[in-house]
Amino acid sequence: MNENIFRQNPRLAALSERLLHARQRGELLLQSGDEGWSSAPSNIALLKYWGKKNGLHQLPMNSSVSLTLNAFRAYTRLTVRGRFVPLKDGQSPSFAERPHFSLMLNASEAAMPAKMEGFLKSILHGFADEIAVRVESVNNFPTACGVASSAAGYAALAAAVADLLNLKRFLSEADLQFWLTEWARIGSGSATRSAVFAQAPESSQYVVWELAERGDSSATMSLATHPNFAQMQHCVLVLDSSEKSVGSSEGHVLAQTSVLQDIRLAHYPRRLQEFRTALAEGDFRTVQRLSELDAFEMHAVMLSGATKLEYMSRKTSQAIAHFVTYRDAHAANMLWTLDAGANPHFLFLPDAAQHMQSYLTQLAQQGSFSGAQLLWGNTQGQSIEIGETHGLRAALRQEPYHSSLKQLPLAEAAVFFAEGDLDASR
Ligand code: DP6
Repeated sequence: MNENIFRQNPRLAALSERLLHARQRGELLLQSGDEGWSSAPSNIALLKYWGKKNGLHQLPMNSSVSLTLNAFRAYTRLTVRGRFVPLKDGQSPSFAERPHFSLMLNASEAAMPAKMEGFLKSILHGFADEIAVRVESVNNFPTACGVASSAAGYAALAAAVADLLNLKRFLSEADLQFWLTEWARIGSGSATRSAVFAQAPESSQYVVWELAERGDSSATMSLATHPNFAQMQHCVLVLDSSEKSVGSSEGHVLAQTSVLQDIRLAHYPRRLQEFRTALAEGDFRTVQRLSELDAFEMHAVMLSGATKLEYMSRKTSQAIAHFVTYRDAHAANMLWTLDAGANPHFLFLPDAAQHMQSYLTQLAQQGSFSGAQLLWGNTQGQSIEIGETHGLRAALRQEPYHSSLKQLPLAEAAVFFAEGDLDASR
């Protein structure tokens, strides 16, 4: 796998080479029991990544843009199993225990998926023959709530390896950022957008994952935005919390079988340009129009492939239709988007908070939404973190510190919104 990765990515190959040299010089040793810690946020795409190029480890068919969801986080600790010591002549490597990869997910022992094991072996290239790691990972948000756990999970995994290998010592900040975003992408495409250091922790963070003009590489970076967008709020309406039957990875492959995909891709460069300009100029209407159009188009591709992927439910359509009617009637700064699932995400500026509350109250009054939940948290805050922090330690011990995320039945959530309690960390 690595040969392929490095052939496609000479800069990553050069960084990897540098680490192997450090190891050969005896500067980068791993011992059984060594740990790497990290935490990483999830993100919600406004311009969607849908479809990837064959055999190229999550090289997307189109650029995408997301808002970082700093309150929705994965916390990860890696512990080295087995031992690497520099070999002296005639000695073979010795292992404190037989190296094997293992996973503890949300406090339960889990079988490590082959994809994750392959990823760890690749990122630990040069070490993985001699060591294996135990991964402990906790998400502070429920799986299948409509927030991507693989985005947070793979970004956190890459950052935990960066901590384990003490990369801050060996790489400049720019190289470290590149290393993180590239490895996160190789783990899961959307994870690259979660692996970007915040420009300013107090502002919300918009990230672009951009396909190069020649289409043979991509790069991920923060996007400059107008101050209007710094306080963007976000919540998810959880209508269905069951696991989806077809995952995104399969969906990306199916995208190629839809006749609509080529049409969608043809206007992407222009759409990205328009979106960037709107973000830079503080033009909410354009951001809203393009985000909603993009979500619709992605779902149109999903519905028109060789296998029909129907993620939207009747309730999803109803909730969105109601939202649009309400929003348009009040010209409020609110928008909806939808990933590969049935649970709509709503984004809004602080001046639309009362409208958001009225919409949620109206929805809660409709019998068919009585079972729905709302999940929300601050978009501001810490982006990806490398190394141990109090939050991380508490999360792994299952201590209730991560209260910055709120989940309530819809009717109760609407009351919070009415009280202006948008700062979920309070
Ligand atoms: C609909 O990143 O989950 O959320 O690269 O195969 O791991 P893999 O897929 P994934 O796809 C995310 C698709 C999406 C849109 C988006 O996040 O841009």
